[in-house]
Amino acid sequence: MAHHTLIRDAAVVMPRETVRTSVLVEGGRIAAVDAAVHARADEVVEAGGLHLMPGVIDDQVHFRDPGLTHKEDLRTGSRACAAGGVTSFLEMPNTVPQTVTVEALAAKLALAARRSVVNYGFYIGATTDNLAEVRRASRTPGIKIFIGSSTGNMLVDDQDALEAIFAETTLPITAHCEDEATVRANRAALEPPLTVHDHSRIRDRRAAVTATRRALDLARRHRHRFHVLHVSTADEVAILSRQKPGLITAEVCPHHLFLDVSDYGRLGTLAQMNPSLKTADDRAALWGGLRDGAIQIVATDHAPHTLQEKAAPYPASPSGVPAVEVVLPLMLNEVHRGRCTLEDLAAWMCDGPARVWDIVGKGRIEEGYDADLVLVDMRAERAVRNGEQRTKCGWSPWDGAVLKGWPVRTWVGGRTVFADGRVEREPVGGEIVFDHGRGGYWATQGV
Ligand code: DOR
Repeated sequence: MAHHTLIRDAAVVMPRETVRTSVLVEGGRIAAVDAAVHARADEVVEAGGLHLMPGVIDDQVHFRDPGLTHKEDLRTGSRACAAGGVTSFLEMPNTVPQTVTVEALAAKLALAARRSVVNYGFYIGATTDNLAEVRRASRTPGIKIFIGSSTGNMLVDDQDALEAIFAETTLPITAHCEDEATVRANRAALEPPLTVHDHSRIRDRRAAVTATRRALDLARRHRHRFHVLHVSTADEVAILSRQKPGLITAEVCPHHLFLDVSDYGRLGTLAQMNPSLKTADDRAALWGGLRDGAIQIVATDHAPHTLQEKAAPYPASPSGVPAVEVVLPLMLNEVHRGRCTLEDLAAWMCDGPARVWDIVGKGRIEEGYDADLVLVDMRAERAVRNGEQRTKCGWSPWDGAVLKGWPVRTWVGGRTVFADGRVEREPVGGEIVFDHGRGGYWATQGV
């Protein structure tokens, strides 16, 4: 007999409304929303009016496993997810070895099955010469291209190679968009010694916009589903808002929503990431892009580096910031500030990523969906603390920020993986299933 859990009297966040009701979980699935309060269950969780959201799906993380596990591994990264209400992650290919073969992809999936406490999926990385591998891959959300170099030396800048990837593959493509030629020219124009403030001059607005335009041109000409990662400029938002819905989607990261160039003085290289921070006006435009639907997803680009690595003088310092365990509290705090609603968060952080990546059975609290859930206490208020971070790198750019609204309990496939401040140790996460063939939501939008 499957284990039954009744989550009684929660404020359940659904796509269009939040309803105070009870949810019955049977095994790994949601058996009923609006369940009878006296439904038979092995376990009853009294939610007492706390908010129940679908678990967050973070479609952009770097968990460094295999190869760079002094920064993070699939166990520590996934446990940080559980504490942050993130029940599924999609991980990037710039590990060691890189995920650029079907074999490396299978090895990562096997590793995650042994280590991850939340659900997992892995992108396959495109290189200038692995088209055959990319075409063979199936257990993946899609193809990641670095059209612009970042951590891990995976640049694909050559136009012929890009044309071939867009022409000869069918999986969705996603890319890091910063134009390499612009970045190099900007760097060459600056007099050393450089400081971290120069990071936004080197990886400037033009670098981001040029590469995004180039990628969108490829996607349109080849009619290929394309997702723009970490949009950082108002200009890109304007371009995205002119796209026909369906073919092109995009996401924004918490660091570009909450930090800008004025934060270098306070944070130094802890605020160094690719794409770089831009201005307060860009931040405002990114929020506008979310609200208008030009951007569909909020995802972290969780990119842990140790404090020792980050302390190297710029430009020897690596780019990237961790965020999986603070992204939901950061966004919940904005609900209190009136910038968005809980339904917006469910769309941007749960349902949106499920639709963009054709993820089966996730992203909503609905009968038949997977029981990946997070119970949130909107009244809980506390500071982010470096010492309390579960990510192996042990720091957050939001150290000291007081946030209101925190996850208190997380379920993955009906099993509690975070409660009372404690995180599960067993690898209870499952491989995410993608159904790229079904056409689904995006097909109806005109692809
Ligand atoms: O800042 C970043 N760090 N941006 C990326 O695209 C990669 C990431 C990393 O892997 O460190």
